[in-house]
Amino acid sequence: MKFYQLSRADRLTWLKQAGYLTDESEQRLLAQTPLAEAVLSAMVENSLSEFGLPMGVADHFLIDGHEYFVPMVTEEPSVIAAASNGAKRVAASGGFQTVEVSHLLKAQVIINGVTNQVSLTKRLTDAQSAIETVVIEAHPSLQKRGGGLRQIEINHFADGYSELALWIDPVAAFGANMANTIAEAVGTYIQQALLKKDEQVLAAVLSNSGEKMTVTVTCQVDFTQLATAEFSGQQVALKIAALNHYAALDIDRAATENKGILNGIFAVGLATGNDLRAISAAVTDYLCGANRPVLSTWQLDQHAEVLRGRLTIPLPVGRVGGAINSLPNAQVSLELLQHPSVETLMSIIASVGLANNLAALRALVTNGIQAGHMALQTANLAIQAGATGEEIGWVQQQLNQHQPANLALAQQLLQQFRNRG
Ligand code: MEV
Repeated sequence: MKFYQLSRADRLTWLKQAGYLTDESEQRLLAQTPLAEAVLSAMVENSLSEFGLPMGVADHFLIDGHEYFVPMVTEEPSVIAAASNGAKRVAASGGFQTVEVSHLLKAQVIINGVTNQVSLTKRLTDAQSAIETVVIEAHPSLQKRGGGLRQIEINHFADGYSELALWIDPVAAFGANMANTIAEAVGTYIQQALLKKDEQVLAAVLSNSGEKMTVTVTCQVDFTQLATAEFSGQQVALKIAALNHYAALDIDRAATENKGILNGIFAVGLATGNDLRAISAAVTDYLCGANRPVLSTWQLDQHAEVLRGRLTIPLPVGRVGGAINSLPNAQVSLELLQHPSVETLMSIIASVGLANNLAALRALVTNGIQAGHMALQTANLAIQAGATGEEIGWVQQQLNQHQPANLALAQQLLQQFRNRG
């Protein structure tokens, strides 16, 4: 029997016998299956187990007048804390607002060997209604659900390449499979019915550009919400705006600020079963075309005594389809978010990104990032030192009072706790 044909248990035994896994690890992977066996093997090839990550919830989110507890999955200790921290300051100043949201996906039919662009454009334009019929027939249920083809574009490139772009409304799904099915059906049709001898459909596939799957959210933060013991709210606001302005001038800083935004975006994306690679690809594409390397803007309004934040980001996500339907915890996440429409989900995810961004910038321009990070990292140190159960909290508390904390200190403190009986 081939490796991929083995049952999960047999595959684990095989790996153990071949020396890839210890007894203990085999048992651990075998036992760790909150996901049903059938779900595991349907979702990935050669399934072994599932990989646990902490799932938490960020609070204080007020978005377009609604309160949310936002599920987040992340391995970085400060991410959920930062999201809640940023959201609390924004909620006290009126909350996040959605300015614009669109949810269209592009399917591309890529043609090469084009020598007469004018002629190709005419043939494709004349065949528009036939192409529309092919789209409907490729995915009849999409039409029934209120989605479907919204726009057709023809674009020409150098070296004899052209693109037929089909903009699709995938309704509540991200729509990758739908777009691929539609692109392939249209590709087959135009190859047979419309293309000349030397022209050929080279590939037919969705585009991950996210150009029309974007959301813009804004917020304003009262100066009073930004003050620390050392700095007035206005001083902090000024410094946040200055650091964000610096990121617009220096791509190396922009990369880090964007990472802080993605901390929140990816954590909610993961919690809701969405495809993080699709988000990464769309953000990369968006930044290549943007005239600023940093995703957010933070600007001072001295008159209103507020700091104004704005984030525009492509978010190719869905609330149904693919892994979202198969993963029970993704369903729980959507339940926590009160079953939002896909557009609302996009607003929620972007708001979390902006909240994480605010918390990071405020920490950076005041106490620095390490104070908060290390306080949270100490739980990891306690676990690495071998602490379990109530020992973790005790060791963490002690470590927080004994900065700089390190593993040796964590081990020493754990021993001390155990010696106390
Ligand atoms: C850490 O995960 C994210 C930050 O570095 C973001 C930033 O510097 O803006 C704190």
